[in-house]
Amino acid sequence: MVKPCIANSPAGVSPTLLTVYHSPPETRGNWSSCMAYVVTENCINCKHTDCVDVCPVDCFHEGPNFLVIDPDECIDCTLCVPECPVNAIFAEDEVPADQAEFIELNAELCKSWPVLTEKRPALPDADEWDGKPGKRDLLQR
Ligand code: SF4
Ligand code: F3S
Repeated sequence: MVKPCIANSPAGVSPTLLTVYHSPPETRGNWSSCMAYVVTENCINCKHTDCVDVCPVDCFHEGPNFLVIDPDECIDCTLCVPECPVNAIFAEDEVPADQAEFIELNAELCKSWPVLTEKRPALPDADEWDGKPGKRDLLQR
């Protein structure tokens, strides 16, 4: 049986539920983790970081020219999606097919990159890089 997502609790994302969420999966009782959101290609070389300011569970991790979301921390609240000026964040099941590799990249890179919790200035040429194709090859680790 699929357990309900904590973020969809009638009580909302309360401190109590967040405590439960951050406990080991085997102690979460009737609550499950949720589908994660994913940062995709258009963040590369833009890195506006508006997204980190609204995340209630601090699940963004910062690399040199890209941010990722920790899928084990994301509670599917959707708050970050409209904050990104270049529309780089998608629900896991709505990631464009040609960017599917970013689902794994988020899960992998969040393990080695530090958490970012406050907005920083965007990268210098962010506006020029918005929408440019082929940015995947420019991702710095
Ligand atoms: Fe954070 Fe976005 Fe996940 Fe909400 S949907 S928890 S804001 S990464
Ligand atoms: Fe990247 Fe958009 Fe956040 S550009 S850093 S996903 S606001």
